[in-house]
Amino acid sequence: MTRIEQIHAREVFDSRGRPTVEVEIRCAGGRTARAIVPSGASTGEHESVELRDEGEARLDGSGVTRAVSHVRGEIAQALQGADAADQQQIDRVLCELDGTPNKSRLGANAILGVSLAAACAAAEAKNIRLIDHLRDLWRQVPSSTATAAADSAAGQSPTVSHVTPHESFSPLGTGFSLPLPMVNMISGGLHAGGNLDFQDFLILPVGASSYRQALDWIITVYRRLGTLLEQTRRGGRLVGDEGGYGPILESNGAAVEFVVAAIEAAGLAPGDDVAIGLDVASSHFYRDGKYVLSAGAGTELTSEELVGLLESWVDRWPVISIEDGLAENDWDGWKLLTERLSDRVQLIGDDLFVTSRHRLQRGIDSGTANSVLIKLNQIGSLWETLETLRLALDNGYWPVVSARSGETEDSFIADLVVATGAGQIKVGSITRSERLAKYNQLLRLDEQLGDDAAWYGGSLFGRIRRSASTWKEAGE
Ligand code: PGA
Ligand code: ZN
Repeated sequence: MTRIEQIHAREVFDSRGRPTVEVEIRCAGGRTARAIVPSGASTGEHESVELRDEGEARLDGSGVTRAVSHVRGEIAQALQGADAADQQQIDRVLCELDGTPNKSRLGANAILGVSLAAACAAAEAKNIRLIDHLRDLWRQVPSSTATAAADSAAGQSPTVSHVTPHESFSPLGTGFSLPLPMVNMISGGLHAGGNLDFQDFLILPVGASSYRQALDWIITVYRRLGTLLEQTRRGGRLVGDEGGYGPILESNGAAVEFVVAAIEAAGLAPGDDVAIGLDVASSHFYRDGKYVLSAGAGTELTSEELVGLLESWVDRWPVISIEDGLAENDWDGWKLLTERLSDRVQLIGDDLFVTSRHRLQRGIDSGTANSVLIKLNQIGSLWETLETLRLALDNGYWPVVSARSGETEDSFIADLVVATGAGQIKVGSITRSERLAKYNQLLRLDEQLGDDAAWYGGSLFGRIRRSASTWKEAGE
């Protein structure tokens, strides 16, 4: 029943009105499912390649008709009759057919569309929920030691020693769990028209006792923040690509001040109830070895100075999570950041690791970061994503399953994060339907699963959370 009978693709549009790939797969017996691929704006240079119709006049070359025709042609032919439930094999065939290390021939957007649609179609054909099928797949993923041994036998990369550099939270990855959402309140960088250099100023409802309560708190803080920003009259309630406010403020730090004030205005305790997260997305203002900030008076910082600035923020505000604090190739800067802050802060590698288990392995071996952002389209197939997730959990790194700034109504990652029990999700803000498609699917799953799904909330941060909740005494 899970034998693939037909693969079809079409060009549709994402939340920024940019073309993207939708794939539809029909299995024997007639059950059909589809998936849509997301797209980033602050993409890492090491990401798999999103194939676009560059050089063509139509839609300024942003079309994806070449990727679509690869799915309809070569890929459909190669996977005719394949078993949609055998994700590892499907993704292996796709990678081999592409034949490049970064999926640049067929396009990671073509490959991921097929990979995800296969998983959805297999669930349909088996007549089970997507989360149940994803849990079946997750259980098939070998330990990262076994994967590394297979790599070295194939001469792909050296066998590595496994160190556990960071505190892990052992229940992660072991069963269904509802994720702690990390939610954008204020947007800057490449995602908004204001002046802020840092891309995301986020909140984490670490004190919430359920997913439902977490959402209630987030929405209340978002509303209070809107009221506070309106009073500035500079960008007020205008929003960026992910639905977070995109105001013009006097400095990057002022954005944190506003978020802390909004948490208090919501009647919640900064640190204990709701902590702060940042996505610095620093690769995008890294030029010739310097971090070039333009908000406020503007300044150029060395890696060490930027680490110092971030450390001073952690002393001053209840910051519990920092993503891409340093640029994607600044491994030395990252090492310093990790030495200085990994006891107090979740340090997430996004552009640094690009969901690649090889880059994450380098991070593990060199003691860099303690967390990894998991974006399906950075690596470009479901199986490879699951392997990276496994590697992270085996080594005590917190995984954060993430959407892209260009999103759609597809809610696959909501099922993925629950099925793998990864623990955290980052989907942008709490408005705009392409974001709510994920939050609402999580509400459905929460209701359907009841006691079968755990809620760890902020406890997954262990020691780190304790240091965020004492920020006030430390900072004053
Ligand atoms: P992107 O942004 O999808 O534009 O890369 C998300 C992020 O940086 O986390
Ligand atoms: Zn990021």
